[in-house]
Amino acid sequence: MNYDIKDIKLATSGLNRIEWAERQMPVVTKIRERFRREKPLRNKRIAACLHITSETANLARTLSAGGASVFLCASNPLSTQDDVTASLVRDFRIPVFAIRGVNRQKYYQHIKSALSCGASGAINSPHITIDDGADLVTMVHSERREMVKTIIAGMEETTTGVIRLRAMERDNALLYPMFAVNDAQCKYLFDNRYGTGQSTMDGILRATNILYAGKIIVVCGYGWCGRGFAMRAKGLGARVVITEVNPLRALEAVMDGFEVMPMRKSLKLGDVFCTLTGNTSVIRKEHFLLMKNGAIVANSGHFNVEIDIPALEKLSKKIKKNIRTNVDEYILKNGKSIFLLGEGRLVNLACAEGHPATVMDMSFATQALTAEYAINNVGSLEPKVYPVPTEIEDWIAKLKLATMGIKIDTLTEKQQKYLSSWCEGT
Ligand code: ADE
Repeated sequence: MNYDIKDIKLATSGLNRIEWAERQMPVVTKIRERFRREKPLRNKRIAACLHITSETANLARTLSAGGASVFLCASNPLSTQDDVTASLVRDFRIPVFAIRGVNRQKYYQHIKSALSCGASGAINSPHITIDDGADLVTMVHSERREMVKTIIAGMEETTTGVIRLRAMERDNALLYPMFAVNDAQCKYLFDNRYGTGQSTMDGILRATNILYAGKIIVVCGYGWCGRGFAMRAKGLGARVVITEVNPLRALEAVMDGFEVMPMRKSLKLGDVFCTLTGNTSVIRKEHFLLMKNGAIVANSGHFNVEIDIPALEKLSKKIKKNIRTNVDEYILKNGKSIFLLGEGRLVNLACAEGHPATVMDMSFATQALTAEYAINNVGSLEPKVYPVPTEIEDWIAKLKLATMGIKIDTLTEKQQKYLSSWCEGT
């Protein structure tokens, strides 16, 4: 088996983590049991470019139990859990191409290896691609177009990736069918909001150990991730400021009880700045110059472009790396210090362990069932961005509730009739 990981000797620690996560992933476990019996993914090759965490390992095990050959690579150079990769190789015989902290060249080499399904000579093509940030899709479209013949469909896990896919669809550039897993309600309402909310908090805390109570936290972006983080920061007693460009979201933030103001005005106030926008250059040169001495800056958006790090470097007379684990101090020429967390990469994965397994259970259940759906519907799919079928979402929500021991009501016949009628008045 061809693979590239840090150290196979880390496998036992990785296995413990995978099994720990599994305890919080009852929906994925249920799917795995059925997949093991029915083998709906038999003889299919799946290339997946995801954050390689203990939760992802449980997804990979599930796809593999369904009969697929799974090939994994990382969707971020700093999110890989090296003990998990070791266990995937040793205990589950799943080839992984990912090492935490690799350089750009190695990062893309790993993506190529997973996309080629681990083949060392002739390139093998996957039937399904699973992305968190569209790296596989981008590589297929730019360098490996011949693979499109074999690929049935792809799935996209994150907002940033879906934005790219929609741009490709608009420009008639999309060459194979894609499912916007991120846009499923059972994904973004939980993973983006509660997952990012808590894990972003966790990343900043683990890196800095600051007290949130009384701090002014500037949250850049009030999408689902920003909403989740703002809510959790407020819960710990921080004074939360929101910056937005979208008037509806800004209004929502105001009515949720937050201070809303332009970035420029927030600079003199903020103790911590966190970007969660999916856009580029949100915190840039003119902003760094006006921040308070000692301001902490972090990013929780997919790519490391939200904070203009090259500009920060240029403004600095000295950079002290790792003054704490995952904290770099930039001493500006104006004498102030700015602390950057996790090299500006996803702070929840670079400085902590990513979203807790309880929410990844729903996100990855969606991935697994959508892969099965794509295989069962191969003849009817076109190169478009598809939503996740509602039956899949309903099934996951019902099962998740059941695993939590929560029962809900059902409509009476009279209520069903009332809802489907347009003649009933007062
Ligand atoms: N994205 C955010 N958190 C994650 C996790 N724990 N595993 C995989 N992908 C993630």
